[in-house]
Amino acid sequence: MNKQQLLDQIRADIISDNVCPDLAKTAKNLVIGDGNPDANIVFIGEAPGKNEDEQGLPFVGASGKFLNEMLASVGLERKDIFITNIVKYRPPNNRDPLPQEKKDFLPYLQRQLEVIAPKVVITLGRHSTNCFLPDLQISKAHGEPKRIKLQFKENDDVLEVVILPLYHPAAALYNGGMRQTLLDDFSAIPAILKKIN
Ligand code: URA
Repeated sequence: MNKQQLLDQIRADIISDNVCPDLAKTAKNLVIGDGNPDANIVFIGEAPGKNEDEQGLPFVGASGKFLNEMLASVGLERKDIFITNIVKYRPPNNRDPLPQEKKDFLPYLQRQLEVIAPKVVITLGRHSTNCFLPDLQISKAHGEPKRIKLQFKENDDVLEVVILPLYHPAAALYNGGMRQTLLDDFSAIPAILKKIN
């Protein structure tokens, strides 16, 4: 199977495994992820919002628009990256994902990372960051790249990645100062990519 077929299989497994049935009932679509399966960079958000749920695609609403602007500021486009969320169904009224929901979706996120095998993982917001770095405070460590090893349970594979924790783009929609912080943190991306290539 090629990478896209393996990603399609993960989508099918989420449905057949009946992951988070309560969320599945209230959501319109499963939002598995989008972009280039051969990308070096994977962005991971929190969970789909209203627009994402309607279109079945991640980051297509206001946060997505700002994300696209930040990507453009470092010469990247959506086709250069892969983007997904920890939780793949919209939580009702955009509430925070529950710890159990994050836990239930984590094996599927890990499988996506195993298939794509990116060199850089950019976590957007504390939910996504704390999935990989549970004790890290995003207010202290945003914009600072770290090398981590991702271990996959099913086999003993280890994927070494650079993880870059960032604030969630939605934070900038309500706080102008945060917008500049995010843009400043994004400006570290080209140097990270240069170093790993
Ligand atoms: N916020 C997220 O975390 N993910 C999306 O897909 C959209 C908004």
